[in-house]
Amino acid sequence: MQDAIIQTQGLTRNFKKTCAVDALDLSIGKGELFGLVGPDGAGKTTTLRLLAGLLDLNGGEATVAGFNLRKEHESIKKEIGYMAQQFSLYAELTVLENLRFFAEIYDVPSEEIAERTENLLQFARLTEFKERRAAHLSGGMQKKLALACTLIHEPKILLLDEPTTGVDPISRREFWDILTNLHLNGTTIIVSTPYMDEADRCSRVGLIYEGKLVICDSPRKIKNELSGEMVEFLTDDWQKAKKIVGKLPGVLEAQTYGEALHLLVDNGEKRLAEITRALTKEGIKFRGARIAPVRMEEAFISLIQRLEE
Ligand SMILES: Nc1ncnc2c1ncn2[C@@H]1O[C@H](COP(=O)(O)OP(=O)(O)OP(=O)(O)O)[C@@H](O)[C@H]1O
Ligand SMILES: [Mg+2]
Repeated sequence: MQDAIIQTQGLTRNFKKTCAVDALDLSIGKGELFGLVGPDGAGKTTTLRLLAGLLDLNGGEATVAGFNLRKEHESIKKEIGYMAQQFSLYAELTVLENLRFFAEIYDVPSEEIAERTENLLQFARLTEFKERRAAHLSGGMQKKLALACTLIHEPKILLLDEPTTGVDPISRREFWDILTNLHLNGTTIIVSTPYMDEADRCSRVGLIYEGKLVICDSPRKIKNELSGEMVEFLTDDWQKAKKIVGKLPGVLEAQTYGEALHLLVDNGEKRLAEITRALTKEGIKFRGARIAPVRMEEAFISLIQRLEE
């Protein structure tokens, strides 16, 4: 990739017998907002920790911001902001004190600390809470403060490991508005997430499975990967409905989301009519039968199911 700010070839990391990251080739362009997704234990955290220079590699090569990952750790650290999956703030320190503390760790010039902390407080909408102890912030505010601390040394690259896990939907959206602003300002962001609506907001998404990158593309192209169309039925009796439609011709996959039954079929219009008839015949009550757009979540579940077959 032209203008790649992160480039890995055969990046590998083992833990005893586990190959956590298995010959990963990754190329991330300057200014990308890149999403990293994959099931538990797929290797997302290990990948991010390798790129942050926090773990030694067992194989392969990588450059981050033009520096060699094997030899130039210290130079790389200045260019990146890494927010760990279990990022810990200093609970007894206030919002402002936490920011100042990280400014010192990262050797921010003392004459710049006041201005940077003020800007970050505004950016993260935490100004009115600056005297509050971190322990007394809501979960969403703690994440925003953690992000602000990660930004204090003005890194070019952000490596964020599930920064919004466990946060309420409104705070998640607010956090992502902040990320979008950073992205628009030219920061390169790599973010791992279990939330598919977040993956959908990325410029490209990489799916990691058992340490390997199995697909890496724009959300739109990943959704197009699914061969077929999605039809949706809303029903309280989805267990029975799933059993009935699962046997019908042309139904490739069935997934349920609450009361919504989503079926991947070979031909939307034709199968919608057939499935409607079959459910009616069996006395299943349903509503809202329609051809629905493919969602990111469905594309990934489908890809993973194929890998597991
Ligand atoms: N320090 C370690 N020692 C031993 N095994 C490890 C260590 N760190 C990770 N692993 C193993 O490496 C594999 C990848 O783990 P990793 O934490 O990178 O996955 P992940 O995709 O971040 O998972 P999650 O979604 O649960 O955070 C797992 O099998 C894990 O058990
Ligand atoms: Mg992880």
